[in-house]
Amino acid sequence: MDSKELRSLFLNYFQEKGHKIVASSSLIPDDDTVLFTTAGMQQFAPYLSSQKNVLEKFQTRHLCSCQKCFRTDDIEEIGDDTHQTFFEMLGNWSIGQDQSGYFKEGAIEYALDFLVNKLGLAKDKFHITIFKGNSFIPKDEEAKKIWERHGITYFHEFGEADNFWGPVSNVGPCGPCSEIHYDRGEEYGCKDCGPNCDYCKRFVEIWNLVFMEYFKNEKGEYEKLKQTNIDTGIGFERLLAILNKENSAYETDLFSDLIKEIEKHAALKYKDDKIAYRIIADHLRGSSFLIGENILPSNTERGYILRRLLRRIIRYARIIDLDLNSIDRLIKVIILKYHHIYPELNQENIVNIFNIEKQKFARTLEKGLKEIEKLTEITPRQAFFLYQTFGFPIEMIKEEANKKGIEIDEKGFKEELKKHQEISRKGAEKKFGKNASEKEIKLHTATHLMHQALRDVLGESVQQMGSSINNERLRFDFSYTKKLSQEQIKEIEDIVNQRIKSGFKVIKEEMPLEKALATGALAFFKEKYKEVVNVYTIKNNNEIYSKEICAGPHIKSSENLGTFKILKESSSGANTRRIRAVIN
Ligand code: SER
Repeated sequence: MDSKELRSLFLNYFQEKGHKIVASSSLIPDDDTVLFTTAGMQQFAPYLSSQKNVLEKFQTRHLCSCQKCFRTDDIEEIGDDTHQTFFEMLGNWSIGQDQSGYFKEGAIEYALDFLVNKLGLAKDKFHITIFKGNSFIPKDEEAKKIWERHGITYFHEFGEADNFWGPVSNVGPCGPCSEIHYDRGEEYGCKDCGPNCDYCKRFVEIWNLVFMEYFKNEKGEYEKLKQTNIDTGIGFERLLAILNKENSAYETDLFSDLIKEIEKHAALKYKDDKIAYRIIADHLRGSSFLIGENILPSNTERGYILRRLLRRIIRYARIIDLDLNSIDRLIKVIILKYHHIYPELNQENIVNIFNIEKQKFARTLEKGLKEIEKLTEITPRQAFFLYQTFGFPIEMIKEEANKKGIEIDEKGFKEELKKHQEISRKGAEKKFGKNASEKEIKLHTATHLMHQALRDVLGESVQQMGSSINNERLRFDFSYTKKLSQEQIKEIEDIVNQRIKSGFKVIKEEMPLEKALATGALAFFKEKYKEVVNVYTIKNNNEIYSKEICAGPHIKSSENLGTFKILKESSSGANTRRIRAVIN
């Protein structure tokens, strides 16, 4: 079965059962506290928590979709059998109840009917996970009984970490779940293990059925939702691989045509370096979809993820000696595979953006290579200098050094990196340390508010280029091509003052950098960050105004912040504007 057939089979099956097929939403979710869409339910979140009326919007409670998703947590893991950045998720929903809505029984019946009767999978290979309960939600005996009634015999109980789904960001609908894991047999791993085994990949999760009955609020408490919902998700690539008895999604038609095309233009074959091939194939597909969302390579947020993928393609292309002049032919294979469902993919656009980034990266590397040429040894400190000044990835420094017969002390490099991060942190503490005045702290919080207001008024492409605060004023440089009009300046002032007036709280959270980026926190000068960073969120009840990675400090709430006023707006270099502002 190929990918096109499986997608249609799933959607047609649920359409025949009275579900409405809803098109995939964008990879950029409405909820701007998260960076990317990572689950099919995201576009339905307001209906699942009954903030919006599902019947008014869709004229039915029963929905199904094939959703574009993108995950950034595991970029370093790409290349093994199971990880991809971009993937699709098939799902069906029953939102709220009346006579027409279904819950656990209906969801389980549909799932088994589709897998066994439509796809021909053997029921005795299914192992089902059951939520074992915690201090506020009891064990899901009800689901277990239903599965048993339908002839399932293998059960495994898990707690919150594995068997409770959601919410996507900190707040939202969630609930216990039952997952269907498929047993591929002893030859794929341990003799005697089960789902979520730490040592092998014998069991593959193919379908997650979420019994969505709770809402996690801002305090982290679980409230019962007014309605029960079904939210299910199938990892499309995984199911396709299982059906075709393939080890991995990379062996299915979703990747095999692309891998064959790469082989035509590379010196090494797929069998010689599967990992490099898979990284290139995954990143080509992932970056094509990001560009399809009008994301451009940059140093922050989504643009940074795209830049990282494109530069990794270039790095790994060197390893298999892939001729990057063939990029248009590689992208064409992706377009042929997907454009009938995702017409936003535009070959010319993707190739152009790739080529521009390739040139930028080449210039960076050229400068770094000239430096390496001059060296007869590369100390950890010099390796760090190349990394920091020229953006030279450490793997490439190693390659170049090896060519010259020079060994790189990687441990020493990592220590040097850590030392630098510590210095940056101390610098930030000094700048905003205990003796910084109260006025400066207030201006710092006002800077975050103004930064977000600039993005609201001038668009998301506005990026911080520099910031300086003393006890009289804030000064903020940002990327923008035109002089701001008086109306725009007024609008920015009004937004900030309105936010101060309506009251807000500033919440500080410590988290790993990757997680901070994944939750959509704005980040600048990325290479200077520590592995664990502080994220400052400015929010009013349910509305988040601003979220930035920042050394702080900030005020705790809007009380006594005063009135914000822009004194001057001027140019500060090519495509950069500068604002001076005060609070009174
Ligand atoms: N929301 C669940 C998931 O993403 C089921 O769709 O796994």
